[in-house]
Amino acid sequence: MSEVKVTVLKDGPYKVEGPISMKDHEENQIEVPSGKAVALCRCGASTNKPFCDGTHSKIGFEGAKAAVEAHRKG
Ligand code: FES
Repeated sequence: MSEVKVTVLKDGPYKVEGPISMKDHEENQIEVPSGKAVALCRCGASTNKPFCDGTHSKIGFEGAKAAVEAHRKG
């Protein structure tokens, strides 16, 4: 797969699929599992940032539906 696909999961993380590399704010490489989708925390509560650790379910995170709809095309 050569295309990066980002899916905003309902009341959950951003699912990122495709060939990606990640760095932190100091340009340190963040290991990303090769060939697998990664889930990036959207709720801010993960203890394993930038990755989702499932905490969004425990805290009852609700995605910003209005913001999503405002930027949706088509
Ligand atoms: S989105 Fe899953 S822990 Fe934040």
